[in-house]
Amino acid sequence: MQSKINQYKAEIAVFKPTSSIELETFRIRFLGTKGILKDLFDDFKSVSADDKKIFGKVLNEFKQYTEGIYQQFKDNFELGESTQKPHIDYTLPGIGLETGGRHPLNLVRKEIIAIFKRLGFILAEGPEIEDDWHNFSALNFPEEHPARDMQDTFFVATPQSYQNNEDKTKNTYALRTHTSSVQVRLMEAGKPPFRALMPGRVYRNEAISARAHCFFHQVEGLYVDEKVSFADLKQTLYYFVQELYGEGTKVRFRPSYFPFTEPSAEMDISCTICKGSGCQMCKQSGWVEILGCGMIDPNVLENVGIDSKKYSGFAFGMGIERITNLKYQIRDLRLFSENDARFLKQFQSEII
Ligand code: PHE
Repeated sequence: MQSKINQYKAEIAVFKPTSSIELETFRIRFLGTKGILKDLFDDFKSVSADDKKIFGKVLNEFKQYTEGIYQQFKDNFELGESTQKPHIDYTLPGIGLETGGRHPLNLVRKEIIAIFKRLGFILAEGPEIEDDWHNFSALNFPEEHPARDMQDTFFVATPQSYQNNEDKTKNTYALRTHTSSVQVRLMEAGKPPFRALMPGRVYRNEAISARAHCFFHQVEGLYVDEKVSFADLKQTLYYFVQELYGEGTKVRFRPSYFPFTEPSAEMDISCTICKGSGCQMCKQSGWVEILGCGMIDPNVLENVGIDSKKYSGFAFGMGIERITNLKYQIRDLRLFSENDARFLKQFQSEII
């Protein structure tokens, strides 16, 4: 037995595996369940009790030695594998990085904000779930006004715990139908003068089609100070249109009605596509409507605690989708919310 072990030891001493397969063969031969060590231990069972004392030690040492050698090579191989560099073919073309782009509505919103910032307008925001007071009542909507109907408004079920207010207008909630609600919040929270722009998403209960959607985006404008007149409103919006659509774009104001402005108007611009000669976009009229506006009704100022004898103001509200449609000649509103990469990719280069 001693001579056998010496022989194996000599063999192991010069063992230098060049691959992990060779090392595995070594493991099976020496340490495997039917390997040399197993055989030696089997032989050991039949030696005399005296010899057991000597060989037991020798055998255990040999076992440890063999296991040590195996472990050492195993570690070396594992280390080698993890630090080995993968083969790289430097002649292959690189993998291009996909870049994202801004959504067209965001591009246009940024542009609108930049123009009004030059006139000193600050930015303000309000919540999308709004109470009746901010969305309707404070804005001078009569109780029975059709815009409060289920037809147009998504009302929100109000939990009992919220219905702790005496005032009914503060107990009814809806998804805001316009950003004019932010005007109210802004004026309630501060003191005039106000000069603010309020972009945001609004919701209306409409059947989805190419021309209408159940949500869209608006930018609201508000200017309140002493002696603000309709001339200020006209000049501000005229400047805005020249900046956005280019000099020479004509504007016209048509009388209109909003509960919260008096007088109220809708503003048209000369069609950006046919320049006024008549086309499909402007339905041959040469004009397209882009926003609603007017002088803030004194009732609204009083509702938010502003002295309507001292202060006056104007407000306007425009749909970003509409402005974008005109700028890029997009004919279907649904494209804005479908996340079709083929559509969105066309705006990738338009970083402003
Ligand atoms: N809130 C109106 C709408 O959604 C737009 C508007 C805003 C009109 C401000 C006048 C003044 O149609």
